Amino acid sequence: MGLPLAVQFARHGWQMTAVDINPEVVAEINAGRSHVAEEPGLAEGVAEVHAAGRLAATTDAAAAVRGADVVVLIVPVMLDDAQQPDYRYMDSAVDSIAGGVHRGLTVIFETTLPVGDTRGRFAPRLEAASGLKAETDFFVAFSPERLYSGAVFANLATYPKLVGGIGPESGRRAANFYDSVLDAEIVAMSCAEAAEFSKIADTTYRDVNIALANDFARYADRVGVDIQEVIDGANSQPYSHIHQPGIGVGGHCIPVYPHLLLSRAPDLEVVAISRRTNDAQVGYAIKTLEAMLGGLDDVPVLVLGLTYRDGVKELAYSRALPLIERLSFHGAQVSAYDPLLGDEDIDRCCATPYHWGEAASFRAIVTQTADKLWTKLDFSLLPNLEVILDGRNSLRAIELPAGVRYAGIGVQADTRRRTTNGQAGRPAAKPAASR
Ligand SMILES: NC(=O)c1ccc[n+]([C@@H]2O[C@H](COP(=O)([O-])OP(=O)(O)OC[C@H]3O[C@@H](n4cnc5c(N)ncnc54)[C@H](O)[C@@H]3O)[C@@H](O)[C@H]2O)c1
Repeated sequence: MGLPLAVQFARHGWQMTAVDINPEVVAEINAGRSHVAEEPGLAEGVAEVHAAGRLAATTDAAAAVRGADVVVLIVPVMLDDAQQPDYRYMDSAVDSIAGGVHRGLTVIFETTLPVGDTRGRFAPRLEAASGLKAETDFFVAFSPERLYSGAVFANLATYPKLVGGIGPESGRRAANFYDSVLDAEIVAMSCAEAAEFSKIADTTYRDVNIALANDFARYADRVGVDIQEVIDGANSQPYSHIHQPGIGVGGHCIPVYPHLLLSRAPDLEVVAISRRTNDAQVGYAIKTLEAMLGGLDDVPVLVLGLTYRDGVKELAYSRALPLIERLSFHGAQVSAYDPLLGDEDIDRCCATPYHWGEAASFRAIVTQTADKLWTKLDFSLLPNLEVILDGRNSLRAIELPAGVRYAGIGVQADTRRRTTNGQAGRPAAKPAASR
């Protein structure tokens, strides 16, 4: 996310230095190339601002900060094994800039943080290292990054930018900075904590909403109705915004940020239960598969789609990983395919690589992403196939050969092709996050 921001800021006239600890990333940027292949417009943007002399990269954070007016930090804060925030990257990034902090500098955190960290954890760390006082000598603010991979430049043009400082002067300076680099609306918030909480509230809302959709999907299976039809019907009421059920929520945002909230407020029961509900979807899918096949021992199974969602080469928190692990635990022989991953990546996910278009003896397919490619499956290559478990309800409309049974998430074999508008699939009435 840092690189598209650098391009955006450079295009608005700022002289940008990109700092990264990875020398290969730095070398690529200094050669005018993007190390991120999939983001539309990014390669062209990097080439453009590099050629214009507005973008350079370095591993020397302190030197870069010494010559800067504004610093934006967007290194990850992940979770440790106990689901507590893992600050290792952010702490070291903050320490690495501390030697360059000077009077008049504005430091902005864009990484999603637990509420209170900008003021309580990072500003004091910078003060201690620099001997300067935040809000009087230098300025510290939080402004959440809310962009969606694959649509970053489009989002930058339209998403309102939330900004909150640890004091009024920090907030004002950070808002002025964003005003100079974004065409979208700038929303000055009362404090850093309000801006931090807004990001966690937005993403946790989506996790909770998806958990409700998953609960509804289980009930739909019980009563034999199609959850997609139910959701489309419910969402035709303007106040209903039910998201999509699925085999689980992946990526390093939606399944992670509720834990940043729970790390500070473990008593928020709805948040905690929703996380557990969404994580249990893999187990639910495996139970369904087991029941349909009469057991999984030695059953050859193909998992389609390992990245956390189609079109984004990112395995972080992908539900494909527990899916493969648990299928194997139940005795299945697991193969996998993902158009964005090579054989080595698939090996690392503990599955046998399958090559698209090969004949194979799979008895079951589980889709973990909604890649459109799956609609082009050539069933003549899979003569032993008995079951498709449609983990994203994206195959409701496809023709299946006789003898291949279907199960979706809250969509049953005999409901999948029945819809309210005569077309299988989701009507595009409202945008709804699904994972
Ligand atoms: N990717 C998304 O879809 C997305 C969306 C919205 C917000 N965000 C926010 O952005 C943060 C970063 O996400 P990302 O996708 O850009 O992560 P990423 O892993 O793609 O990139 C992080 C970069 O930081 C570098 N890095 C690590 N430690 C460093 C240090 N001490 N100093 C300098 N560089 C260091 C890494 O080498 C890497 O190049 C997330 O934690 C999240 O809060 C991401």
